[in-house]
Amino acid sequence: MTRILVTGASGLLGLNLALSASERHTVTGVDRCKLSGVPFDLICANLLDRGTVDRVLDTARPDWLIHCAALANLEACEADPDLARRLNADLPGGLAAACARRGVKMVHISTDSVFDGTKEEPYTEADAPSPVGMYPVTKLEGEQNVLAADPKAAVARVNFFGWSLGGKRSISEFFFNNLSAGKRCNGFTDVWFCPIFVGDLADTLLRMLEKGLSGLYHATGSDALTKYEFGVRLARRFGFDETLIDPISVGQSELTARRSPILRLSVHKLSTALGMEIPGVSTGLDRFYTQFQQGYPQKIRSYAQGESTQVNK
Ligand SMILES: NC(=O)c1ccc[n+]([C@@H]2O[C@H](COP(=O)([O-])OP(=O)(O)OC[C@H]3O[C@@H](n4cnc5c(N)ncnc54)[C@H](OP(=O)(O)O)[C@@H]3O)[C@@H](O)[C@H]2O)c1
Repeated sequence: MTRILVTGASGLLGLNLALSASERHTVTGVDRCKLSGVPFDLICANLLDRGTVDRVLDTARPDWLIHCAALANLEACEADPDLARRLNADLPGGLAAACARRGVKMVHISTDSVFDGTKEEPYTEADAPSPVGMYPVTKLEGEQNVLAADPKAAVARVNFFGWSLGGKRSISEFFFNNLSAGKRCNGFTDVWFCPIFVGDLADTLLRMLEKGLSGLYHATGSDALTKYEFGVRLARRFGFDETLIDPISVGQSELTARRSPILRLSVHKLSTALGMEIPGVSTGLDRFYTQFQQGYPQKIRSYAQGESTQVNK
């Protein structure tokens, strides 16, 4: 069985990915002692601590690394630019160099928001990035550091939704939590994105590794919609009252870090390389709903807390 190391294993992507991958592979997740009872091995470590990257890789001895750990909150990146740079730019470069030395195949997770969102047509991998704000700037630096340190690595620019450990991490949980409680909430009518269901993204990332892909790929969903439309589609899938969603402009919201308004990304390159269609929102929302019916949100939250093997203090 292939040995896979997943960083950010308590995060929205990392946890869903590690759970899914552990059905077919031997998985080790890196967390900060937040998880317990998961069906994969855990290493508790702060990846920014000196010597930790080498120690984690030598403990897990993976064939593949999927690097999901990041400072992914835009406002937190603006508040602490130094931490954002260390986590989002320096750490991925260090991991890529360490993987290259050991012959470990790495996929690094980046973001659709390396673009400023002013282009009407879908962005391709050939388009020059135009990041605005500390989060996208440092994520772009991370992409560049990874590919410079290890040209065999792959970088996946993503945007996804799903169920999370804390129950509040994703846009789908934002709408679910409000609408299921009968509460009004806002949906932006002027912010476009191409979200992919996190389970579909996990499948896609594993296929990228199986195929041995290298270089830069857009791994978002295959169709674009506004965040308001996403909320309405989710409401209809769950049978919630969609009129509880107030259509507003992002400029009317309390969010302070600037968001790119139109993030339509082409997935043609990835689709061609994998020889498959990249899933869209409809099938993704179906899978998100099916997980709800199967009690997956409760299951995933039951992994919160507890102890794991501490390899680094
Ligand atoms: N969510 C989206 O739609 C989206 C969109 C575009 C790109 N992305 C990218 O996708 C990736 C995963 O995002 P996500 O939404 O899953 O993020 P998330 O839920 O915020 O998870 C981030 C993970 O990184 C871990 N981490 C942070 N600092 C660490 C450190 N010093 N040492 C070890 N682990 C550390 C966190 O651990 P703790 O739980 O202990 O804090 C957490 O497990 C990131 O690269 C992000 O930039 C996400």
